[in-house]
Amino acid sequence: MNCINYIEEIHKLHAGKKFYINTFGCQMNVRDSLSIQELLKSMGYIPAENMENADIVVFNTCCVRENAENKVYGNLGRLKYLKQTKKDLKVVVAGCMVQRDSVIEKIKKTHRHVDVIFGTFNLHKFPELLYTNITSGETVIDIWKEADEFQNMPTASETPYKASVNIMFGCNNFCSYCVVPYVRGRERSRAPGDVLNEIENFARAGVREILLLGQNVNSYAYGFPDLLRAVDKIEGIKRIRFISSHPKDISDDLIYAIRDSRNVCAQLHLPFQSGSNAVLKKMNRNYTKEKYLSIIKKAKNEIPDLALSTDIIVGFPTETEADFEDTLDVARQAGFGAAFTFIYSPREGTPAAKWPEVPPKIVQNRFDRLIKVVNDGFFNFNKSFVGRTVEVLIDELNGDLFTGRTEQNSPVHFKAGQGAAPAGLGDFVSVKITGNKSFYLTGELV
Ligand code: 5AD
Ligand code: SF4
Repeated sequence: MNCINYIEEIHKLHAGKKFYINTFGCQMNVRDSLSIQELLKSMGYIPAENMENADIVVFNTCCVRENAENKVYGNLGRLKYLKQTKKDLKVVVAGCMVQRDSVIEKIKKTHRHVDVIFGTFNLHKFPELLYTNITSGETVIDIWKEADEFQNMPTASETPYKASVNIMFGCNNFCSYCVVPYVRGRERSRAPGDVLNEIENFARAGVREILLLGQNVNSYAYGFPDLLRAVDKIEGIKRIRFISSHPKDISDDLIYAIRDSRNVCAQLHLPFQSGSNAVLKKMNRNYTKEKYLSIIKKAKNEIPDLALSTDIIVGFPTETEADFEDTLDVARQAGFGAAFTFIYSPREGTPAAKWPEVPPKIVQNRFDRLIKVVNDGFFNFNKSFVGRTVEVLIDELNGDLFTGRTEQNSPVHFKAGQGAAPAGLGDFVSVKITGNKSFYLTGELV
């Protein structure tokens, strides 16, 4: 029986039942959850308002840091009680966490109410696995250790005008703290034709903003700057963003591709993780503080109003006060528009998990100091837009209050001005920026 038949068989049994998807972790998981959602819809399920009134609950999990894992276990615990009163409830666990053997063992031992488990390499088998569970009543576990050939999965956009598109999967970098290469496998790039096709379909359906996704888009096998230039030619797409870029692989050609494009946003997510050369070496990052600073200087010189964003880890094993001062120094010099700041979380199986940890109190103190520095940076970055008129894509409407995003991805709150042309969700409008905070701008519709 092929995949279509499993879908039809489940449709006959479960049409009209309700699904709820709980997504943890990065944009990659958010996108995978959209594929899971489309599969569920094709099987006849309809969206539930919340987890409690769903007939099938899917956890799409993340194992990059421990707290994301703990949230999944907490939620699974809640569902154990729900399942006592709702015997037909189906519980599905997918994603990065279950690629780890220790997690499977724990679920088997303490969360026996889970019905279906599949990993990051076999999303496409979900209907078959669910069907097997429905017909046998047994827990079905199917984890692959590596990727098969590409499976084109159903896709959907996040909103009618914003969509994410995978360009590659996996990572070859093995940063010493990171579990991603172990749970997502080696790098595989999608053919440019498939990527462009998917974006053209989105454009025809009314999507205006595209986010290209990969753990490290700079090692896209068919040349990332060329891909950007090709996406830039697609009619209807007005904004192109991408994540994530590894500083060791960024090229001048990429910077020029952004600069010379029509629609690639003035935005670059460039994780630096630590400002200390000693720590960067232990992290296996393959660049120095000086190299990082020179890249961002070049990028800022070439691309006007560039919004730089980053990821930073605090409390990496052996991090000293002097190492941390280097991190603060980069944060001060860079003037980021946004930053994801993380407390180091030891991950079993990675080299760094065996190294001496920094005491939690010291880590927390450094983390708090870093937050202050990055927030000041965001404030100053946003302030540079006050008094200017910028283009905003409207995301939300609350009465007569609009919220949208600038090209730099800063949120803007503004009122629909008197006498202005009516605007709605997904429209581009001109907004005069009148004020700013660290995390958003305020303005008036022009
Ligand atoms: N602990 C803390 N943060 C981590 N990241 C990856 N692994 C860990 C870890 N073990 C962060 C990095 C990466 C982002 C996606 O998650 O900053 O860029
Ligand atoms: Fe993890 Fe490093 Fe790969 Fe990013 S580049 S996913 S931090 S191993």
